[in-house]
Amino acid sequence: MSDLFSVKGRVALVTGATSGIGAMAATALAGAGARVYLVGRDAESCASTAEALPGSVPLPGDVSTLAGIDAVAAEFGRHEKRLHLLVNNAGTLRDAPLDDVSEAEWDDVVDLNLKAPFFLAQRLLPALRAGATPEDPAAVVNVGSVGGLRVGPRPTYSYAASKAGLHHLTRSLAKRLAPEHVTVNAIAPGFFPSRLAPADSPEVQRAIASSVPRGRAGNGDDIGGVLLFLASRAGAFVTGTVLPVDGGMSL
Ligand SMILES: NC(=O)c1ccc[n+]([C@@H]2O[C@H](COP(=O)([O-])OP(=O)(O)OC[C@H]3O[C@@H](n4cnc5c(N)ncnc54)[C@H](OP(=O)(O)O)[C@@H]3O)[C@@H](O)[C@H]2O)c1
Repeated sequence: MSDLFSVKGRVALVTGATSGIGAMAATALAGAGARVYLVGRDAESCASTAEALPGSVPLPGDVSTLAGIDAVAAEFGRHEKRLHLLVNNAGTLRDAPLDDVSEAEWDDVVDLNLKAPFFLAQRLLPALRAGATPEDPAAVVNVGSVGGLRVGPRPTYSYAASKAGLHHLTRSLAKRLAPEHVTVNAIAPGFFPSRLAPADSPEVQRAIASSVPRGRAGNGDDIGGVLLFLASRAGAFVTGTVLPVDGGMSL
């Protein structure tokens, strides 16, 4: 029981690890003794985040293209043969009225939010297989969104579609990879203060108070708690789920 929730010594790769939810995930994993590879486009942010998190390694890259994903996977492979946890977190959002949505904006969002998690899982699968055992599976955790569970107030067509797609992709991959001892789950966060979702304005504070039954935004422990569960032996029999981490916002 004592090591049921342990990720000590496990190897993790977190995309979008330099800000917001990805930084919360990386902090929780590194704090619990995992070796965490930190992916983001800005090399300086990757380096400064790694400096603050003992046991983490900067791995700068852009995962919005297949070429970028291949470069990240190749660099990871120069360091490690085994991967125990892939956190597909990097994501972006555009909101624009229906009549104004452009193809370029649509593609930016869907490429990063939906295409990247699929091809990262595909390209890193040999390392995930190498890190998996029947008792202690390797894990993929996709960061979806409450916006993929129900239609929210903002016009975020590409974002909502990409996140709903990611939730269903999670189920498809979970079914396919379960016999290979790789679990695939998604978390669906509600409000978390970040660059993408600044929470300091009075307007956002009011929205949080009125739409989140728990009455607050999420924090690093809320992300760390679910991630340590899904990434450790404690979550070994849990796969294909989409777990809202939203203080009840999606109810
Ligand atoms: N915050 C919320 O309330 C909330 C709610 C629901 C779901 N989510 C989801 O949570 C995830 C993280 O969001 P966040 O709010 O924490 O965002 P954030 O603060 O904007 O952080 C995004 C991270 O992704 C990195 N990134 C962006 N584009 C990238 C690319 N092409 N390749 C590699 N890294 C890239 C950024 O670093 P660089 O800019 O240096 O690349 C940064 O580290 C997203 O998938 C988002 O949809 C967030």
